[in-house]
Amino acid sequence: MVVVTGSAGGIGRALAVEAAVRGARVVVNSRRVERLADVVADVEAAGGEVLAVGADLRHGDQADRLAAETVERFGRLDVLVNNAAGLFFAPAEELTENGWRSVVDANLTTTFLACRAAFPYLRDQGGGTICNLSSVAALRPHPHASHYAAAKAGVNSLTETLAYEWAPHGIRVNAVVLGAVLTEASRFHRDVDRALMEAQLPGGRIVTPDEVAAAVLDLCFVETSYLTGAVVRLDGGFRGVMAPPEAP
Ligand SMILES: NC(=O)c1ccc[n+]([C@@H]2O[C@H](COP(=O)([O-])OP(=O)(O)OC[C@H]3O[C@@H](n4cnc5c(N)ncnc54)[C@H](OP(=O)(O)O)[C@@H]3O)[C@@H](O)[C@H]2O)c1
Repeated sequence: MVVVTGSAGGIGRALAVEAAVRGARVVVNSRRVERLADVVADVEAAGGEVLAVGADLRHGDQADRLAAETVERFGRLDVLVNNAAGLFFAPAEELTENGWRSVVDANLTTTFLACRAAFPYLRDQGGGTICNLSSVAALRPHPHASHYAAAKAGVNSLTETLAYEWAPHGIRVNAVVLGAVLTEASRFHRDVDRALMEAQLPGGRIVTPDEVAAAVLDLCFVETSYLTGAVVRLDGGFRGVMAPPEAP
């Protein structure tokens, strides 16, 4: 069974549906349970059994509740995909303290708290796998997203340390580093941003959420216990600096 955090839309929704297509039972999550109605319907249409849990993963007690409700319903927790995130763009010198904290919390604190909540169940059942979604922002400058870039670099670092600490328990922890993805809310639907991005991509096109979901779940379901602590690039070979959004 698979838990996908932040799965109301975008890549999280694609992950939940792909997990169901592959025969997994699925837990979907966002801060507001009412936002999950569409993804619940999509997972059920794909033949999956699904539980929707409203939980704000910036708070440890709510992350703990997500893991507890998962095990209460399905008896175990095999795969945790940390997808929940948040981002806005601002030059560093204009970032408020609250703005900085909100993005670090949305990306890094949520990931840590969800991992910590899942740990006792993964340990007691003899293992499992965690995949943390990260960004090329962690690897090189990401103008006007210093908070996000630092948080995703933290996600990569957290991945390596948890993989080391939890390997004796059979828990694999990996990260997938994404470049631009063509989600429904993506700025890359705007012609100006899309053209700028595609001109930099070696393959000349932006990856879709369905492609990302398939790759992430391949990594989760691979039967190679030694594959842990990896920070895998799923960026189409992109090595440039991602520009901030063009002004409207
Ligand atoms: N899209 C891209 O181009 C791109 C590129 C690189 C990396 N990524 C990474 O890929 C992942 C998915 O990206 P996306 O664009 O699909 O994201 P998205 O559309 O912004 O979705 C984020 C999800 O997280 C949920 N969420 C936010 N804060 C939360 C919290 N505190 N607790 C629980 N849920 C929370 C949101 O729902 P609620 O608001 O209802 O809580 C939403 O469902 C993220 O980790 C992102 O950083 C994306």
